[in-house]
Amino acid sequence: MNYKQLIENIDKERMPKHIAIIMDGNGRWADAQNTNRINGHKQGVLAVRRIVETAVEAGLEYLTVYAFSTENWRRSKKEVNYLLKLIMDSLVKEIDDLIANNVIIRFIGSKEELEKNYNKKVLNTCKSSWKNTGLHLNVAMNYGGRRELIDAFKLMSDDIISGKISKNLINDEMISNYLYTAYMPDPDLIIRTSGEERLSNFLVWQSAYSEFWFTKTLWPDFSRQEFIQSILDFQERKRRFGSR
Ligand code: FPP
Repeated sequence: MNYKQLIENIDKERMPKHIAIIMDGNGRWADAQNTNRINGHKQGVLAVRRIVETAVEAGLEYLTVYAFSTENWRRSKKEVNYLLKLIMDSLVKEIDDLIANNVIIRFIGSKEELEKNYNKKVLNTCKSSWKNTGLHLNVAMNYGGRRELIDAFKLMSDDIISGKISKNLINDEMISNYLYTAYMPDPDLIIRTSGEERLSNFLVWQSAYSEFWFTKTLWPDFSRQEFIQSILDFQERKRRFGSR
C-alpha cells in the first residue's frame, strides 16, 4: 500500500500531537553500503526531508528530531565538524521549502559549545518561520535531557531567589515550562530506528508517558510508509497514564 493510502487509515480524532524521533543508524547504513559515515549522514538528511513532508501531509502538530546530542562531541573531530555543518547547511538550504509548507522551526538544546556564528545562523533561519501556523519542527541540537533539566533548575532557582516564583508553586507544569520545550505538548510517541531500544538522554522529563516504537530499519532507509505505520500502531495502543 502506498503511504497516501495509509494516511487515509489514520483516525484523525486520535492523532498523536507530538512525535519525537531518535534517528539512529547512519553509520551502520554507510558500513553496509561500503561507503564512509559522512555519506550515511547525507542520506540521513534526505530521510529527514521525507519524514517532515510526510508529517505535514498527515497533519501532525509537533515533530522533534534528535540531530546532535551533548554526547555526540565524543565522536572524531572530523565527524563532529561535518555533522554540525551538514545540519546547519541543510536547514538553511531547505528553509524556503519549509516555510512554503507552513512549518515552524525551533532548535532545542544548549547554546553552549555551539559556535556563535552557528547560533546566529540558527536563529535567523528559525525566525523567518515563526509566523507560520503548521507543523512545529523541533531540531534537537546539542541536546541532552539531563542538561536540559540542569538548565531548567538554574533558571528556576534564579526566579525563586529573585522572588519571581514561590517554591511552593513548583509542580509538573511549572517544571515543563522551564524546559527547552516550554509550552509544547509532551511527545505521545517516540520512534527509534536501527534496532536500539533505549532513550539515550532524549526528552528525559517529557517522555514520562510516551509510547515507544522501535524498528530495525536504519535511519537513511526509514520510509514514509513506516512512519505512517508507527502512527497506526500508536492508535491501537491503550494509554492509561497510570490509571487502570
Ligand atoms: C545517528 O546515526 C545519527 C546522528 C547522530 C545524526 C543525525 C543527523 C542527521 C540525520 C542529519 C540531519 C538532521 C537535520 C535536522 C537536517 P549514527 O551515526 O549514530 O549511526 P550508527 O549508530 O550506525 O553509527
